[in-house]
Amino acid sequence: MTDLNYDQTLHLKNIVPQRAIEEIDLWIKKYPEERKRPPIIAALKVVQEHNGNYLTEETMQAVAEYLDVPDVAVYEVATFYSMFHLDKVGRYVISVCNNISCSLRGADKVIEQLQSRLNIRAGETSDDGLYTIKTVECMAACAGAPMLEVNKTYYENLTEEKIDKILSDIAAMELKRAAVRSTIDDAASIEPSEVKD
Ligand code: FES
Repeated sequence: MTDLNYDQTLHLKNIVPQRAIEEIDLWIKKYPEERKRPPIIAALKVVQEHNGNYLTEETMQAVAEYLDVPDVAVYEVATFYSMFHLDKVGRYVISVCNNISCSLRGADKVIEQLQSRLNIRAGETSDDGLYTIKTVECMAACAGAPMLEVNKTYYENLTEEKIDKILSDIAAMELKRAAVRSTIDDAASIEPSEVKD
């Protein structure tokens, strides 16, 4: 039971920024006061976004405390939906559907190709912290089977060529990102005396 003297926002406020708390509050206000469970999904999404794209036991407990629901109610939601990650994941989470329609249309081959190109097994994250491969249940895109999702983007009717293109697009994006990063680092390392008027 929640301690009435306990500042319920305290714990969550230590974990996520104020704007995240405000976003969660907006979701809470959408439901009658006595209905405390419906905002769980939205609150977890917000918290995950602000916690390096995964949820820890501490973050789940903080959400439960903030929403005034049992820990287990939050845990059930977090473990049911594949969009929630309970371990540290890569910058690109590649979720491959291996439910019936996708399986019948070659999900196994998709997984094999990804594993061999990225050199990790499903359920693993690459050493450089860039990629995680997950297998997930139906993502309601069966008409486009086989399909996968990278972060929040769906890719359907996959072929070997399409998968290679997805991976090479990500690699190109990462190169650009690295170039921007190094430009910023170079600029930051310039001594004031080196700056000409
Ligand atoms: S079975 Fe794969 S999206 Fe439905």
